Amino acid sequence: MSDLDVSQNVHRLIAAPTGAGKSYFLGWLVEKLYAEKKPFILLDTKTRNHIGLIGLKGVKLLKIRPGARYDWQKLLEYPYILCIPTLLTKTEDLVEQYTELIDAVYPVGKERTIIVEEAHNYNKNAYAPSPVLELVAREGRGRQISLWFVTQRIQDFPKLLWSQCYYTYLLKFMIPQDVRYVEALIPNFNEINRKLDRFDVLEYRHVSGEHQIIPAASVNRQTKHYG
Ligand SMILES: Nc1ncnc2c1ncn2[C@@H]1O[C@H](COP(=O)(O)OP(=O)(O)OP(=O)(O)O)[C@@H](O)[C@H]1O
Ligand SMILES: [Mg+2]
Repeated sequence: MSDLDVSQNVHRLIAAPTGAGKSYFLGWLVEKLYAEKKPFILLDTKTRNHIGLIGLKGVKLLKIRPGARYDWQKLLEYPYILCIPTLLTKTEDLVEQYTELIDAVYPVGKERTIIVEEAHNYNKNAYAPSPVLELVAREGRGRQISLWFVTQRIQDFPKLLWSQCYYTYLLKFMIPQDVRYVEALIPNFNEINRKLDRFDVLEYRHVSGEHQIIPAASVNRQTKHYG
């Protein structure tokens, strides 16, 4: 198996049903980013999910309150940022704040990986991506901004954004309709999905159609995952 390479400045999608292990795997990827000193902003949707990552020295934790104003430009001075909602922050408020943040990060043009949990929440439907995400997905790489999308609702995540991703990571899918949906972009997914054990991750490279299975046993987190 070739090593998983997080240093490439490319967009990525992580998708799987709820509870399948997306965030645990994502945390492992973020630890790799950190080890390579690659700046990131993780836009978490849960108050505790990725909290273990603050165990990494220098990670700035930012609690997002509904309606609060943030000086995103100033906050960007921190290389590693973990954003979490407060218990009072509703999904729509969080999406609004995170959309503003992405809007602020994009023109700065400094290298950054922006990690978007529950990425399907940013669009009204699968045919209408959020304008900011669409812009950054299309143009961000030239400005060294890469997006990592995470979703548990693959059919609600815009194909337009997915088609900008260089890598897709999938854990085992259970619903035949989802498997058929994924097959539109990953032709032999049904066959590969059957081979996946619990927490195994398929890495699919869209340009070449190559894939590898990352066995669950090799996904070893350094920090605790609270999901
Ligand atoms: N590779 C793994 N090895 C051991 N345990 C794992 C692994 N991956 C995930 N888990 C455990 O499985 C549970 C669900 O994982 P996780 O929180 O990553 O799911 P998820 O796909 O992000 O779910 P949700 O859609 O609800 O956010 C957690 O308790 C996590 O610790
Ligand atoms: Mg999760």
